[in-house]
Amino acid sequence: MTHQEPDIRRLFEPQSVAVIGASHNETKIGSKILANIINGGFPGRIYPVNPKGGEVLGLPVAKSMDDVEMDVDLIVTCVPAKYTLDAVKAAGARRAAFNLVITSGFSEVGNIDLERQVMDVARASNMRIIGPNIFGMYSAAADIDATFGPGGIRKGGVAIITQSGALGLAMIGKTGVENVGISAIVSVGNKADIDEADLVSYLVDDDITDVILMYIEGVKNGDRLVEVLKTATRKKPVVVIKSGRSKRGAVAAASHTGSLAGSDEIFDAVMRQCGVLRAESIKEAFNLCKFLPGTGIPKGDNTVVITNGGGIGVLATDACEKYNVKMYDDVTSLKEIFAPATPAFGSTKNPIDITGGATSADYTLAMDAALASDSIGSVISLYCETAVFDADNLGDMIAKNTKRYRAAGKPIAFSVFGGEETERIQNELSKDGMPVFGDVYETVCCLGGVYRYRRYLEQWTDEVHEEKIDFDAIDQVVAEARADRRSFLLADEGRRVMEAAGIPLPATKTAKSMEEAVKLADEIGYPVVMKVVSRDILHKSDSGGVALDLENTEEVIDAYEAIMRNCRTNVPGARIQGIQVMEMAPPGVELIVGARRDAGFGPIIMFGMGGIYVEVLKDISFRAVPLNRAEALEMMKEIRAFPLLLGVRGEERKDIESVLDAVIRIGTVIRHVEDISDIEVNPLVAYEQGRGAKAVDVRILLTDIAGGDTNA
Ligand code: COA
Repeated sequence: MTHQEPDIRRLFEPQSVAVIGASHNETKIGSKILANIINGGFPGRIYPVNPKGGEVLGLPVAKSMDDVEMDVDLIVTCVPAKYTLDAVKAAGARRAAFNLVITSGFSEVGNIDLERQVMDVARASNMRIIGPNIFGMYSAAADIDATFGPGGIRKGGVAIITQSGALGLAMIGKTGVENVGISAIVSVGNKADIDEADLVSYLVDDDITDVILMYIEGVKNGDRLVEVLKTATRKKPVVVIKSGRSKRGAVAAASHTGSLAGSDEIFDAVMRQCGVLRAESIKEAFNLCKFLPGTGIPKGDNTVVITNGGGIGVLATDACEKYNVKMYDDVTSLKEIFAPATPAFGSTKNPIDITGGATSADYTLAMDAALASDSIGSVISLYCETAVFDADNLGDMIAKNTKRYRAAGKPIAFSVFGGEETERIQNELSKDGMPVFGDVYETVCCLGGVYRYRRYLEQWTDEVHEEKIDFDAIDQVVAEARADRRSFLLADEGRRVMEAAGIPLPATKTAKSMEEAVKLADEIGYPVVMKVVSRDILHKSDSGGVALDLENTEEVIDAYEAIMRNCRTNVPGARIQGIQVMEMAPPGVELIVGARRDAGFGPIIMFGMGGIYVEVLKDISFRAVPLNRAEALEMMKEIRAFPLLLGVRGEERKDIESVLDAVIRIGTVIRHVEDISDIEVNPLVAYEQGRGAKAVDVRILLTDIAGGDTNA
């Protein structure tokens, strides 16, 4: 790069903009964008550019970029793909800072070469590209609407970054209907240059942005995104919607981690790790974006539901379970707090049923009681339309209570359910930024989002944990395998990597003959396990190359002969380097720890229940590496079988610390040894507290080098 990259503020707060391809024809995209810039009230300098010259929408047209000021902040390119390279060159020659390339017809349709050429030209002149294949951007900070959307964007605190074009455009219209105010919208398209991480870095410190909403289809440079998001979510909430829950992205690799790691599961886990709230739908995302900023973070867990209807109260209770919102359940305390606000035939057991006869004053009385109690962290207030309720006061009651709760920093969310008039009031309140929803699940989902965010903030630490590892020894193993033109490690090489990483293994020695096998088994002590060592046999069990639980000399001799015979029959021509004789690890909880390089997120780690049923049970969880011990523990707790490690039915607690240690060590290896693509320890057997965990079987793959022997 010749000089420094332009400051990203010039993208969001430009003082000058040139539209290359500003058309004289008002139905064309170039004209629509220019019209939006003008009508949106952009106060800076505007240059329509078109070789035909003349005037467009009342502005004089520059015939070429030569007639535009030097160092223009923002370019909008809307000429056909075949002219784009020249247009980008011309903008670069005028030292433009940012270029929104609207044009389609690049990598998204396989035209990778043209996209690369555009990028080369842009880089050479130090200009940053947004897109190509985008609908443009809006920034409230500069009153600029450089999109070909419907215009009339409602200003507010939500910044939207979207990879999807058409959906993003439609979202602009929808934000109006859903009463969502916008601080910025950026369409990122093919992400040839600027990506989500660049944009989030700006938006996180942007005072008018309260919450960031991202619509993502696929992740590139995910390790950088993780870093940026972890910092961003400390300062303001980030909500994400991702399309594509399919498993197509999962690499059909020779390891479980590869085939189990569906791209969506990884995305989900990594977003959780970053404190990003993933929404299931656009509606949910909008609700979270509206709810989170004004609401604040609850001081405590306990939620109470105040309702005038029993049924809707039960629905809310179900929803609380689904969204992990804890209902306050101290019956004595609840009675003390709510008895004065509840009729005798109501209920002070959470949900607090103030009964169908409740008026707005009764609601306020109950909400007052909840507000005054330090034991209550948040409130869900439900209203079913009744004839006895003073409906004229509904809006006022909700607005006033919201104000008081917000002032006290205690979250409150309302659900109102009824006919036309109720819906009208709901819509009015929503326009004014009040936390009111129609559906109970929507209401509780929002509160669940706030609690998810709170839990993340409480646990947050910028620490990254790594362990001391003998990288030289690992490099030596890798070099030997490379010299042998292999892309996988042999069993004993895998063991050497584990030793270098400081992960305990069962005692093992390799025998070259039957006599030696017998001698080694005596030394190790019975029972023992025997396994073939062969560069040609990766799946040892399937090939009959493993014998377990050998109790004495005779069984060792029989097993030796059987393994040799099976392997020669099942993998003809396999070169057999020897037979491992291994201490038979005593039974414990069988776990799997895997690590691999994900195409989107870089190094990731997987944890789960191990053994032979791992593919069937799929009881696994993921995190991006690097990670700290708290994150590793969270990952472990996510699997359904975690209670087995805590000890069930009178069993002792397992050595969770040792398992954590192995996770951190394996993470350290995958992060730093770039030659290693996959590590899989299955099983890692966890023993009782204080007795550690042992890596019983290890499989390691190397990053593929063309022509290498993968044996896959
Ligand atoms: N510099 C400046 N203007 C130029 C030019 C140049 N080098 N070459 C051509 N133009 C002018 C044309 O004369 C025309 O103006 P006119 O109508 O006054 O004659 C204008 O640029 C547009 O060119 P045109 O050939 O009419 O293209 P178009 O408007 O039909 O299409 C795109 C241009 C960019 C909109 C189109 O190629 C495209 O990519 N569309 C898809 C956009 C999209 O969907 N993006 C993703 C959204 S999510």
